[in-house]
Amino acid sequence: MSVVKINVLTVPEGNGAELEKRFAHRAGLVEGSAGFEGFELLRPTDGTEKYLVYTRWRSEEDFENWTKSAAFVQGHAKAAADAQAAGHGHGHGHGGPASTAAELWAFEVIQKVEPKEG
Ligand code: HEM
Repeated sequence: MSVVKINVLTVPEGNGAELEKRFAHRAGLVEGSAGFEGFELLRPTDGTEKYLVYTRWRSEEDFENWTKSAAFVQGHAKAAADAQAAGHGHGHGHGGPASTAAELWAFEVIQKVEPKEG
């Protein structure tokens, strides 16, 4: 069964638009990676500061290969450059990183139900 990896980004109030803009201009490389099954950027609607970068992969190995790939590095090159330029993540949406923290959640898909046709 597939695995789900969610990168949880803490995005202070006011930085959401900047983060979304960055993702709107994302590298678009993940969709070409082996074992990639889907990606969703989830914006919080309950007043929290956590954006979820939801990804699903055929296997743990496929996810790990992507994180070690040039596609991952390139897909995050801008984030890394901006973080460095801003110095230790204190940017506030003017070229610095939009998030102040990231944490990875990992899951196995153990049941999956799709809506019936028609
Ligand atoms: C320190 C950790 C991380 C931070 C701060 C971060 C932040 C970001 C940002 C801001 C972007 C938008 C592109 C850009 O501005 O460069 C991005 C792209 C992306 N991130 Fe992360 N990220 C991190 C690690 C991860 C991890 C572990 C995953 C795995 C779930 C992930 C999944 C993605 C995906 C799928 C994209 C789109 C890349 C593409 O289109 O090829 N990120 N990330």
